[in-house]
Amino acid sequence: MSKGFVEAITRAANQNHSRVVLALDVKGPNTIEKAKKILEETSGYICCVKINKHLILSVGLEGLRELVERAHSLGLPVIVDCKMCDIGPTNLVETSYYFDSGFDAVTVMPLPGWIDGLSDVFHVAKERDKGVLVVVLMSHKGASEFFETIAFDEEYGVFDKLYRIFARRAVKWRADGVIVGATRPDAIRQVKSIVGEVPIFSPGIVVQGGVVEETLKAGASYVIAGRAICESINPADKARELRDITRRFS
Ligand code: XMP
Repeated sequence: MSKGFVEAITRAANQNHSRVVLALDVKGPNTIEKAKKILEETSGYICCVKINKHLILSVGLEGLRELVERAHSLGLPVIVDCKMCDIGPTNLVETSYYFDSGFDAVTVMPLPGWIDGLSDVFHVAKERDKGVLVVVLMSHKGASEFFETIAFDEEYGVFDKLYRIFARRAVKWRADGVIVGATRPDAIRQVKSIVGEVPIFSPGIVVQGGVVEETLKAGASYVIAGRAICESINPADKARELRDITRRFS
């Protein structure tokens, strides 16, 4: 577990009274300018920034350096959400690029497993005091196709849903957070009872149908908001509105 990332997001959450992670998912021309503007306008209402392939494929990691530094200067940690899912050596190269670019945490899919899969990602993150978040259950409808499959958990000798097995692994691997879709509050409750103090990050609010209050009541620590803020006519107003809801759960 990384003290650095966990402390940074906790500090920002307390400072801004917010449990909102801004997913800077901007499209079309001038992505970086649009992203910078949204960051500046919403920075007082969020506790963290999440960047994914929307921006990485648009401007590259070099093109993101200034944005990441700006988020840091505003007291906000930055997650890179590329859900790594490869063999260890490839994951390691990818992780090094992200951490060298200033990101504070990465997301991983649990499927590669530990040995020769994710172990090096966790080791390098620990060495560099960075965070690793494990995807446990996605938010979209099709997630039930595989994440809810019953499988045999050899470690525990029980049959269980895959996402519950992933949650137990995330605890064992000492993840800094788990990701569970806000569209499944019942699953959030189950995962919470497995992961305890490990924070749950929930994407899928508003546009995908997840309700912020229900998500937090079920046990999520943070909600992730992308389109609801980035595609709003007034991103600052939307971020403030979401922040005000999460504030009641602080
Ligand atoms: P919206 O626009 O739906 O975007 O608020 C959500 C953001 O979160 C990412 N996302 C997910 N990430 N598991 C994840 O790890 C999920 O189930 C999931 N659903 C959405 C998405 O890429 C976007 O940045």
